[in-house]
Amino acid sequence: MAHLFTPTTVGAYSLSHRVVLAPMTRLRTIQPGDIPSPMMADFYGQRASEGGLEIVEGVSISMTARSYLGAASFFHDGQVEGWKAIANAVHAKGGRVFMQLIHGGRQSHVDMTGGVAPVAPSVVPFDGVALTKEGFVPASPHRALGIEEIPGIIEEFRVAAQRALDAGFDGVELHGANGYLVDQFIQDGTNKRTDAYGGPIENRVRFLREAVEALISVWGADRVGVRISPSGEWGGISDSNPEATFSHVAKVLDEYRIAYLHVIEPRIKGDDTLHEGQAPVATKYLRAHFSGPIIAAGGFDGDSAQAIVASGDADLVAFGRHFSSNPDLPYRLKHNLPLTPYVREAFWGGDEKHYSDFPAYHPVPEAVATV
Ligand SMILES: Cc1cc2nc3c(=O)[nH]c(=O)nc-3n(C[C@H](O)[C@H](O)[C@H](O)COP(=O)(O)O)c2cc1C
Repeated sequence: MAHLFTPTTVGAYSLSHRVVLAPMTRLRTIQPGDIPSPMMADFYGQRASEGGLEIVEGVSISMTARSYLGAASFFHDGQVEGWKAIANAVHAKGGRVFMQLIHGGRQSHVDMTGGVAPVAPSVVPFDGVALTKEGFVPASPHRALGIEEIPGIIEEFRVAAQRALDAGFDGVELHGANGYLVDQFIQDGTNKRTDAYGGPIENRVRFLREAVEALISVWGADRVGVRISPSGEWGGISDSNPEATFSHVAKVLDEYRIAYLHVIEPRIKGDDTLHEGQAPVATKYLRAHFSGPIIAAGGFDGDSAQAIVASGDADLVAFGRHFSSNPDLPYRLKHNLPLTPYVREAFWGGDEKHYSDFPAYHPVPEAVATV
């Protein structure tokens, strides 16, 4: 029976344990220019471990792909050194690091996209927010992409993937989750198109396929992962039949033999637990359709992570919030050590405080403890 600390293989890489850092946008790039900051390199370096896998926060592939001021992006040369420093910090500790590539689609605002309307598969009113210099503001009205514009966005995914390769990353993850552009194409609540990219699920996965093929053209399939969030609610996303839709998505991705499928459980909404106590469900039904490694994410602690790996429904478990405040999370889980509580107020923007200043576990010396 597999255990959280049984070595495993993910695509091209051998890993010595299965505790993965989930992607977390923490809004700590240097402005202007979304330059990856030294504290980000500290953050990822602190969370790296020998034979461990990290997935860095969503990285926007272009100006129009951006959603949140301070979030990461990678589309100009001024960002190269910062990303190299992050890859180096992880490699210095023997870890592996994938870059999550994102296009925000309709979850944006003209102040973030360079003054143009955010784009989406279709115009479907969205009452969510974007983050600009004015703070969290209602998203701007979006427009539907013309079919002739789609190859240009796919090309942006390819170029960003190439940049990640050149900066020394180990792979890329396509952000197909949380109601961003790829997800907006997949799910029928946001995709009302009547052309080759809309209608039946075979058409709604066309954008996903083309994006995955672009990433594979740079990296090879064994260094590309995809993240999905079946029944996720972040970003006002919805589908009339999530189980059928995402079973098909899993089958399609299985054909490509990608490195892994990363699944966020529906009990999670973005950065919070929506359905306390709900057991993992999505990973369970997707297992039947995807033969490669599955990373489960969303609401796990050490015991539930161990249980899902032992059950075989998932092969690895990604941790977000607990990893934010426990840089040595794999070590703590392995040795059953207490976890430091996370600090939600510091999730979205700020400095090193409650970001890169959480210490690794140090036992209190007995002599001190008894004083
Ligand atoms: C502050 C914060 C930022 C996040 N940013 C991202 C992101 O950039 N990309 C993504 O796919 N998920 C993002 N998530 C979701 C996490 O990857 C993860 O799915 C979620 O936190 C649930 O896992 P947990 O219960 O272990 O925290 C974010 C979560 C948090 C708390």
